[in-house]
Amino acid sequence: MSVVGIIAAGGSGERLGAEGPKAFAVLAGRPMVEWALEGIRDPCDRVVVAVPPHLAAGSWQLAETVPGGDSRSASVRNAVEAAPEATVYVVHDAARPLVTPELVERCLAALEPGIDGAVAGARMTDTVKEAAPDGRVLRTLDRSALWSIQTPQVFRAEMLREALDRDPAALAAVTDDAALVEQIGGTVHVVEAPPSNLKVTSTADLRVAETLLAP
Ligand code: CTP
Ligand code: MG
Repeated sequence: MSVVGIIAAGGSGERLGAEGPKAFAVLAGRPMVEWALEGIRDPCDRVVVAVPPHLAAGSWQLAETVPGGDSRSASVRNAVEAAPEATVYVVHDAARPLVTPELVERCLAALEPGIDGAVAGARMTDTVKEAAPDGRVLRTLDRSALWSIQTPQVFRAEMLREALDRDPAALAAVTDDAALVEQIGGTVHVVEAPPSNLKVTSTADLRVAETLLAP
Protein backbone atom coordinates (compact mmCIF):
# COMPACT_ATOMS: atom_id res chain seq x y z
CA MET A 1 0.00 0.00 0.00
CA SER A 2 1.31 3.45 -0.93
CA VAL A 3 -0.36 6.18 1.11
CA VAL A 4 0.01 9.66 -0.38
CA GLY A 5 -1.08 12.67 1.65
CA ILE A 6 -2.48 15.67 -0.17
CA ILE A 7 -2.84 19.05 1.49
CA ALA A 8 -5.20 21.53 -0.16
CA ALA A 9 -3.51 24.85 0.55
CA GLY A 10 -4.22 26.64 -2.71
CA GLY A 11 -6.98 28.99 -1.57
CA SER A 12 -6.74 32.73 -1.15
CA GLY A 13 -8.44 32.97 2.24
CA GLU A 14 -10.82 35.80 1.38
CA ARG A 15 -12.98 35.33 4.46
CA LEU A 16 -9.97 35.42 6.79
CA GLY A 17 -8.78 38.61 5.14
CA ALA A 18 -5.12 38.16 6.10
CA GLU A 19 -2.40 39.74 3.95
CA GLY A 20 -1.44 36.55 2.14
CA PRO A 21 -3.08 33.17 1.47
CA LYS A 22 -4.83 31.66 4.53
CA ALA A 23 -2.73 28.48 4.56
CA PHE A 24 0.37 30.60 5.18
CA ALA A 25 -1.14 32.71 7.97
CA VAL A 26 0.99 32.20 11.07
CA LEU A 27 -0.58 30.73 14.19
CA ALA A 28 1.30 29.72 17.32
CA GLY A 29 4.53 30.59 15.51
CA ARG A 30 4.13 28.51 12.36
CA PRO A 31 2.22 28.78 9.08
CA MET A 32 -1.10 26.92 9.27
CA VAL A 33 -0.06 24.58 6.45
CA GLU A 34 2.92 23.36 8.52
CA TRP A 35 0.65 22.36 11.40
CA ALA A 36 -1.57 20.48 8.95
CA LEU A 37 1.48 18.82 7.38
CA GLU A 38 2.78 17.74 10.78
CA GLY A 39 -0.61 16.25 11.61
CA ILE A 40 -0.85 13.99 8.56
CA ARG A 41 2.79 13.25 7.76
CA ASP A 42 3.44 10.15 9.90
CA PRO A 43 0.76 7.85 8.43
CA CYS A 44 1.75 8.88 4.86
CA ASP A 45 4.61 7.64 2.67
CA ARG A 46 4.76 10.99 0.87
CA VAL A 47 2.89 14.31 1.05
CA VAL A 48 2.14 16.68 -1.83
CA VAL A 49 0.89 20.19 -1.04
CA ALA A 50 -1.18 22.20 -3.53
CA VAL A 51 -0.26 25.86 -2.97
CA PRO A 52 -1.33 29.11 -4.64
CA PRO A 53 0.34 29.09 -8.08
CA HIS A 54 2.57 32.09 -7.30
CA LEU A 55 4.11 30.13 -4.39
CA ALA A 56 4.58 26.86 -6.26
CA ALA A 57 8.01 27.83 -7.52
CA GLY A 58 9.40 26.97 -4.12
CA SER A 59 9.32 29.80 -1.60
CA TRP A 60 8.11 27.16 0.87
CA GLN A 61 10.50 24.24 1.03
CA LEU A 62 9.14 22.01 3.77
CA ALA A 63 7.27 19.73 1.38
CA GLU A 64 6.78 18.88 -2.25
CA THR A 65 4.44 21.43 -3.83
CA VAL A 66 2.24 21.64 -6.93
CA PRO A 67 0.31 24.69 -8.16
CA GLY A 68 -3.27 24.87 -6.91
CA GLY A 69 -6.22 25.08 -9.29
CA ASP A 70 -9.24 27.33 -9.68
CA SER A 71 -11.26 25.35 -7.13
CA ARG A 72 -10.45 23.23 -4.12
CA SER A 73 -11.03 19.95 -5.97
CA ALA A 74 -8.98 21.22 -8.94
CA SER A 75 -6.12 21.77 -6.48
CA VAL A 76 -6.56 18.24 -5.15
CA ARG A 77 -6.53 16.88 -8.69
CA ASN A 78 -3.23 18.60 -9.45
CA ALA A 79 -1.70 16.94 -6.40
CA VAL A 80 -3.20 13.54 -7.28
CA GLU A 81 -1.68 13.77 -10.75
CA ALA A 82 1.74 14.43 -9.20
CA ALA A 83 1.56 11.18 -7.20
CA PRO A 84 0.27 8.46 -9.54
CA GLU A 85 1.89 5.68 -7.49
CA ALA A 86 -0.62 6.03 -4.65
CA THR A 87 -2.97 3.21 -3.74
CA VAL A 88 -4.64 5.39 -1.09
CA TYR A 89 -4.87 9.20 -0.89
CA VAL A 90 -5.29 11.12 2.37
CA VAL A 91 -6.78 14.49 1.43
CA HIS A 92 -6.61 17.21 4.05
CA ASP A 93 -7.29 20.95 4.14
CA ALA A 94 -4.52 23.26 5.33
CA ALA A 95 -7.36 25.15 7.01
CA ARG A 96 -7.60 22.35 9.64
CA PRO A 97 -4.29 22.71 11.50
CA LEU A 98 -5.35 20.59 14.50
CA VAL A 99 -5.57 17.29 12.65
CA THR A 100 -3.81 14.39 14.39
CA PRO A 101 -2.10 11.25 13.05
CA GLU A 102 -4.57 9.29 15.18
CA LEU A 103 -7.54 10.69 13.25
CA VAL A 104 -5.83 9.90 9.92
CA GLU A 105 -5.15 6.35 11.14
CA ARG A 106 -8.79 5.89 12.13
CA CYS A 107 -9.92 7.04 8.66
CA LEU A 108 -7.43 4.63 7.03
CA ALA A 109 -8.67 1.79 9.24
CA ALA A 110 -12.24 2.51 8.09
CA LEU A 111 -11.32 1.73 4.45
CA GLU A 112 -12.55 -1.83 4.74
CA PRO A 113 -13.26 -4.01 1.69
CA GLY A 114 -16.15 -2.50 -0.25
CA ILE A 115 -15.61 1.00 1.15
CA ASP A 116 -14.15 3.58 -1.24
CA GLY A 117 -13.75 6.54 1.08
CA ALA A 118 -13.77 7.47 4.77
CA VAL A 119 -14.27 11.05 5.87
CA ALA A 120 -13.87 12.76 9.23
CA GLY A 121 -17.00 14.38 10.54
CA ALA A 122 -18.80 15.69 13.61
CA ARG A 123 -22.35 15.06 14.73
CA MET A 124 -24.49 18.18 14.50
CA THR A 125 -24.93 19.83 17.87
CA ASP A 126 -26.97 22.85 16.74
CA THR A 127 -30.61 22.58 15.72
CA VAL A 128 -30.66 22.51 11.91
CA LYS A 129 -33.30 24.34 9.90
CA GLU A 130 -33.79 24.87 6.20
CA ALA A 131 -34.68 28.45 5.25
CA ALA A 132 -35.72 30.29 2.09
CA PRO A 133 -33.43 33.01 0.65
CA ASP A 134 -35.47 35.66 2.54
CA GLY A 135 -34.81 33.89 5.86
CA ARG A 136 -38.23 32.30 6.30
CA VAL A 137 -37.84 28.88 7.92
CA LEU A 138 -39.14 26.08 5.72
CA ARG A 139 -38.53 23.16 8.03
CA THR A 140 -36.54 21.80 10.94
CA LEU A 141 -34.41 18.82 10.02
CA ASP A 142 -33.87 15.70 12.14
CA ARG A 143 -30.24 16.20 13.10
CA SER A 144 -29.73 12.68 14.45
CA ALA A 145 -28.61 11.42 11.04
CA LEU A 146 -26.74 14.59 9.98
CA TRP A 147 -22.99 15.05 10.07
CA SER A 148 -20.83 18.08 9.53
CA ILE A 149 -18.11 16.82 7.22
CA GLN A 150 -14.44 17.70 7.60
CA THR A 151 -11.07 16.53 6.42
CA PRO A 152 -9.05 14.26 6.53
CA GLN A 153 -10.81 12.29 3.80
CA VAL A 154 -9.17 9.05 2.65
CA PHE A 155 -9.94 7.31 -0.62
CA ARG A 156 -8.95 4.28 -2.61
CA ALA A 157 -6.71 5.87 -5.21
CA GLU A 158 -8.39 4.57 -8.35
CA MET A 159 -11.77 5.78 -7.07
CA LEU A 160 -10.53 9.31 -6.31
CA ARG A 161 -8.76 9.56 -9.69
CA GLU A 162 -11.96 8.59 -11.49
CA ALA A 163 -14.07 10.94 -9.33
CA LEU A 164 -11.77 13.89 -10.10
CA ASP A 165 -11.83 13.24 -13.85
CA ARG A 166 -14.50 15.93 -14.39
CA ASP A 167 -14.70 19.34 -16.04
CA PRO A 168 -13.73 22.46 -14.02
CA ALA A 169 -17.38 23.42 -13.38
CA ALA A 170 -18.18 20.02 -11.85
CA LEU A 171 -15.07 20.26 -9.65
CA ALA A 172 -16.03 23.78 -8.55
CA ALA A 173 -19.61 22.78 -7.72
CA VAL A 174 -18.67 20.58 -4.76
CA THR A 175 -17.21 21.46 -1.37
CA ASP A 176 -15.44 18.17 -0.78
CA ASP A 177 -13.98 15.33 -2.82
CA ALA A 178 -16.22 12.74 -1.19
CA ALA A 179 -19.17 14.34 -3.01
CA LEU A 180 -17.47 13.54 -6.33
CA VAL A 181 -16.87 9.94 -5.23
CA GLU A 182 -20.53 9.68 -4.18
CA GLN A 183 -21.58 11.02 -7.61
CA ILE A 184 -19.89 8.09 -9.35
CA GLY A 185 -21.52 5.59 -7.00
CA GLY A 186 -18.72 5.19 -4.45
CA THR A 187 -19.41 4.11 -0.89
CA VAL A 188 -18.21 6.64 1.69
CA HIS A 189 -18.26 6.24 5.48
CA VAL A 190 -18.06 8.88 8.21
CA VAL A 191 -15.48 8.64 10.99
CA GLU A 192 -16.26 10.68 14.11
CA ALA A 193 -13.58 13.33 14.67
CA PRO A 194 -12.65 14.98 17.96
CA PRO A 195 -14.17 18.46 18.55
CA SER A 196 -10.68 19.98 18.25
CA ASN A 197 -10.47 19.31 14.48
CA LEU A 198 -11.85 22.75 13.72
CA LYS A 199 -11.65 24.67 10.46
CA VAL A 200 -10.11 28.13 10.30
CA THR A 201 -12.35 30.38 8.23
CA SER A 202 -12.51 33.65 10.19
CA THR A 203 -10.15 35.51 12.52
CA ALA A 204 -12.19 34.19 15.48
CA ASP A 205 -11.41 30.61 14.36
CA LEU A 206 -7.75 31.56 14.02
CA ARG A 207 -7.65 32.70 17.65
CA VAL A 208 -9.34 29.51 18.90
CA ALA A 209 -6.93 27.33 16.88
CA GLU A 210 -3.98 29.32 18.18
CA THR A 211 -5.12 28.80 21.78
CA LEU A 212 -5.44 25.04 21.23
CA LEU A 213 -2.05 24.78 19.48
CA ALA A 214 -0.04 26.98 21.84
CA PRO A 215 2.18 24.92 24.18
N1 CTP B 1 -8.20 25.44 -1.45
C1 CTP B 1 -7.35 25.01 -2.45
N2 CTP B 1 -7.49 25.50 -3.73
C2 CTP B 1 -8.48 26.37 -4.02
C3 CTP B 1 -9.38 26.80 -3.01
C4 CTP B 1 -9.22 26.29 -1.71
O1 CTP B 1 -6.46 24.19 -2.21
N3 CTP B 1 -8.59 26.85 -5.27
C5 CTP B 1 -7.98 24.94 -0.08
C6 CTP B 1 -7.75 26.06 0.94
O2 CTP B 1 -6.38 26.47 0.91
C7 CTP B 1 -8.18 25.43 2.24
C8 CTP B 1 -9.21 24.38 1.81
O3 CTP B 1 -9.13 24.26 0.39
O4 CTP B 1 -7.12 24.80 2.93
C9 CTP B 1 -10.61 24.73 2.24
O5 CTP B 1 -11.00 25.93 1.58
P1 CTP B 1 -11.46 27.27 2.30
O6 CTP B 1 -11.56 27.07 3.78
O7 CTP B 1 -12.62 27.79 1.55
O8 CTP B 1 -10.16 28.21 2.10
P2 CTP B 1 -9.98 29.43 1.12
O9 CTP B 1 -10.63 29.14 -0.20
O10 CTP B 1 -8.53 29.78 1.13
O11 CTP B 1 -10.78 30.58 1.89
P3 CTP B 1 -11.94 31.54 1.32
O12 CTP B 1 -13.01 30.62 0.77
O13 CTP B 1 -12.36 32.32 2.51
O14 CTP B 1 -11.31 32.39 0.24
MG1 MG C 1 -12.78 28.76 -0.31
